[in-house]
Amino acid sequence: MIIDWYPGHMKKARAQIVEMLPLIDLFIEVLDARLPASSANPLLEKLRGDKPCIKVLNKTDLADPTVTGGWVDYFDKQQGVRALPLDATDRRNVGLLPKLCRRLVPNRGGKGQKPLRVMIIGIPNVGKSTLINTLAGKKITRVGDKPAITTCPQQIDLRNGILLSDTPGLLWPVLEDPNGACRLAASGAIGDNAFDTTEVSLATVAYICGKYPALLLKRYKLPELPETPTAILQEIGRRRGCLISGGEVDLHRAAELFLRELRGGKLGRISLERPGEILTGRPSVETTPDEPAV
Ligand code: G4P
Repeated sequence: MIIDWYPGHMKKARAQIVEMLPLIDLFIEVLDARLPASSANPLLEKLRGDKPCIKVLNKTDLADPTVTGGWVDYFDKQQGVRALPLDATDRRNVGLLPKLCRRLVPNRGGKGQKPLRVMIIGIPNVGKSTLINTLAGKKITRVGDKPAITTCPQQIDLRNGILLSDTPGLLWPVLEDPNGACRLAASGAIGDNAFDTTEVSLATVAYICGKYPALLLKRYKLPELPETPTAILQEIGRRRGCLISGGEVDLHRAAELFLRELRGGKLGRISLERPGEILTGRPSVETTPDEPAV
């Protein structure tokens, strides 16, 4: 699958992170809990050296809790890394984050100590702004989100001993792995004009059909699952009135509807990748021979 989208901001982001590195005690990388590997940016692991890092698995309310548990174990085994599943919209839940920051850097951020300097990074749409706003208790306008503006790091004083530096420049996902790119597209992290909606939908239907068939049956009130992803999407389209003249199914509209409902959590809590799949390199999207391979 080709995704026609690769902004070239990476070099700038790298330079800015390297420049700020001596002024940072800890990194927070915000990931999408439904696809923590594909929503990560490998640049951080290359640059952070021995600085500790919290991987926030955000949007846990949309992800499969068992799979999220597997990801927490996976990240916690990494040197200097702690994983924290969060729902950034939930204030009580987000309160765990400053506590974990202080535990990882005990000599800063406490009474009579120097501030704990944290840099928060993440690709677009993983929930950075939501998390920052919830942490700060107010809406913060993020300079880094405005394209074509020279960005300088924005510092936010959380008034609890923690100084938060917002991402210098935008970190974009790396789209070299077509399976990862497809999962990012399905999650809504990539603009809809940059990929083939039907192709991404079919691949995602194939994956969900393999891992969460009961959720598909329930959501679309199907007595049984048709044999191929195309037939499933056609059935969804038929049931939801995505038709063109003559009564045929408009597959593109059905694909759009399916992705919209998936992103909104209407099908239930679904994770799009698991640690085992990523580690073995096994493609996580199973397709039949006549279906598009992604
Ligand atoms: P970004 O800064 O990383 O680009 O992401 P941002 O905070 O803008 O969040 C992207 C979308 O994800 C927003 O939805 C936001 O509400 C949603 N979101 C963030 N954290 C969570 C979470 O933990 N759970 C769920 N379910 N959603 C989350 P949106 O529809 O694009 O905007 P809005 O209509 O909510 O304002």
